[in-house]
Amino acid sequence: MVDTARRNAATEGVDGGVGLTALLVAAARAIETHRGDSLARDPYAEHFVLAAPASAGWPVHPHQVPDGDADPLWGRFARYFGLRTRVLDDFLLTSARAGARQVVLLGAGLDARAFRLDWPPGCVVFEIDRAAVLTFKHRVLDEVSAAPRATRVPIPVDLRDDWVGALTGAGFDPAEPTVWLAEGLLFYLPAAAETYLVDTVDRLSAQGSALAYEAKLEKDLTRYRDSPLYTATRERIGIDLLALFNRDPRPDSMAALAARGWGTSVHTPFDFTRRHGRGPLPEPNDALEGNRWVFANRSRT
Ligand SMILES: C[S@@+](CC[C@H](N)C(=O)[O-])C[C@H]1O[C@@H](n2cnc3c(N)ncnc32)[C@H](O)[C@@H]1O
Repeated sequence: MVDTARRNAATEGVDGGVGLTALLVAAARAIETHRGDSLARDPYAEHFVLAAPASAGWPVHPHQVPDGDADPLWGRFARYFGLRTRVLDDFLLTSARAGARQVVLLGAGLDARAFRLDWPPGCVVFEIDRAAVLTFKHRVLDEVSAAPRATRVPIPVDLRDDWVGALTGAGFDPAEPTVWLAEGLLFYLPAAAETYLVDTVDRLSAQGSALAYEAKLEKDLTRYRDSPLYTATRERIGIDLLALFNRDPRPDSMAALAARGWGTSVHTPFDFTRRHGRGPLPEPNDALEGNRWVFANRSRT
């Protein structure tokens, strides 16, 4: 029974389960792209949304969101993803320009950074996600003749399995500094897979490497079941995020990294809203309250 569920999840594409969350983020990026005050631009995002039957009717432009930022899903939540995209774009580019020429996107989904960011020469972007998600991504990117702006290496593998062999077999070099990203990923993984991921990042990171990931602080996520954000996502587009989140007690990944000598810092998304002068702010019964963005660096000695 468990094996069947696991096999289905492994082969699932973007039309259901956790794969559908990749389309949610893509729709948010599409809307953000067309805002007059956009924080990040992703011209590929709307093509993903319109190409998938599950999302073809979702908005991809602010004029399709009549309530604007007051809309909990396509206003506030979409803006959250826009802000997250911008902050992590900046983190990746800063790390790459400082010398980390290998970029590993863990749970890459429909992240089009390999195609849209101004990477320094010599960058290699490894994209890890499940095969069916990457197959859909490639179909859409081929249709719009997208050309990567770095060497791009897709790695179809499940992060609950031993993904290290797939990464190193694809040319990843642990002797070179790397910037790793787990954006909107860890809360879907079993605790053991998160522990393995952090152990692996530590083991494969040369000096000068960096990691960013998103985590949730809450011990009881169901506390926010009736929040406007989770309710709208569940009732309007059929994504029950709380049902998709893994319920294992979370490991303290930041402590694990610090214990191995990584410098770490943690921020709320609202810190960056204030920094950029736009983005979501706290509200009552806020599903974003416990979200944290963690940045870790293994400095050169
Ligand atoms: C919310 S989406 C985020 C995608 C991307 N990081 C972004 O921000 O655009 C979560 C992604 O994690 C991927 N994912 C979840 N569990 C995974 C697993 N066990 N192995 C590989 N990918 C996984 C999903 O397929 C999906 O693409």
